[in-house]
Amino acid sequence: MKSIGIGIIGGGLMGREMASAFARWCSLTDVDVKPELVAVADLVEPVREWFRQIPSCQQFTSDYKELLANPAVDVVYVAVPHNLHEKLYIDVLEAGKDLFAEKPFGMDLESARNIAAAVLRTGRFTRCSSEFPFMPGAQRVAQAVNSGKLGRVLEIVSGFHHSSDMDATKPANWKRFSRTCGEIGVLGDLGMHACHLPLRFGWKPKSLFAQLQKGYPQRPDGKGGMTPCDTWDNAMLHTWTHIGDHDVPMRLEMKRLSPGQTNTWFIEVLGTEGGVRFSTKQPKTLWLFEGGKEQFWKQTDLGIAGTPFKVVTGGIFEIGFADIIQQMWAAFFMEREGKLNGRFGCATVEEAVATQEIFAAALESQAKGSVVALT
Ligand SMILES: NC(=O)c1ccc[n+]([C@@H]2O[C@H](COP(=O)([O-])OP(=O)(O)OC[C@H]3O[C@@H](n4cnc5c(N)ncnc54)[C@H](O)[C@@H]3O)[C@@H](O)[C@H]2O)c1
Repeated sequence: MKSIGIGIIGGGLMGREMASAFARWCSLTDVDVKPELVAVADLVEPVREWFRQIPSCQQFTSDYKELLANPAVDVVYVAVPHNLHEKLYIDVLEAGKDLFAEKPFGMDLESARNIAAAVLRTGRFTRCSSEFPFMPGAQRVAQAVNSGKLGRVLEIVSGFHHSSDMDATKPANWKRFSRTCGEIGVLGDLGMHACHLPLRFGWKPKSLFAQLQKGYPQRPDGKGGMTPCDTWDNAMLHTWTHIGDHDVPMRLEMKRLSPGQTNTWFIEVLGTEGGVRFSTKQPKTLWLFEGGKEQFWKQTDLGIAGTPFKVVTGGIFEIGFADIIQQMWAAFFMEREGKLNGRFGCATVEEAVATQEIFAAALESQAKGSVVALT
């Protein structure tokens, strides 16, 4: 096993999630690289303290530049508020480290392009986080689409819904303000998840009409008062894409105010000959449509055996969020080694920039109240 030194900048929700995926790396059976978390940088001391339980982690700093100067760090994962992405990603690349970026890829289109230029300039291996395509059900959606057996594609819906912001008493955090979450709001937060598979299939929107909605205009500030919140919370993008010889309607949905949804990622592709549908609401259930004189929606339950990278877990056992995070990292490391061998790869720089082109068009459409063309 080749060891790869990892540094994490931002040890909050996602920093800890990634660290725990590395900690149970022995569950993967067909990878020959092993991440070793060697350093963490976070501004908050108790956040850094959590990482002391990881034996390989030896550097705990509030200054991420110290982490970037650590020769034991080969790859840096950055999970900080969106307004910091451009500066930190470019600093990582210019320090000569490979980058696993969190979404969104910068705070807006301009910053995404600046980061992409730094990737080109430095030649560092860079991918962007998007884990849901690693679900066995999502992998089967990709197989169904790539098989060509769906016939002429008639319509596509891809989205991500949760309801974390339905609670008006929840104190505001950085995701509630445009200055830290980005003017793109929920698009930056959930948009990569909704766009990743369509973009991988080559289904970039050629035009779109956006409906963006704000949530509660103020929330508790956590100190006994209230603070104004200005971020977009829900986004419905009604787009046209082009597949084969046809324009096809594709709806991209991103919602932080979706009653009853906890963390639901879904995709449905309907064609003249067949269809496929998967949602994490029923995380092991795949739906396949069969056309003909009589029409059927068939349902099957998938086990963890359907992941791109094999694991010790029994093949019929259910998959979870922690598993797909680990699968995504396996894809990152194996692609970095040139050993992806046809398995599903992480979101690329081109895909990440394309999401920002979609988000920029969505803001423009919302502002004008009209359809916007994408180049
Ligand atoms: N892939 C996913 O499913 C997923 C899920 C949630 C969040 N995210 C993304 O992960 C990123 C982080 O989100 P989160 O929910 O983990 O946030 P969080 O608020 O839980 O954690 C962010 C951490 O960054 C630290 N930080 C801020 N500025 C810093 C700096 N200059 N140097 C070092 N540390 C600094 C904070 O102290 C905090 O601990 C965002 O880009 C978000 O969109 C991805």
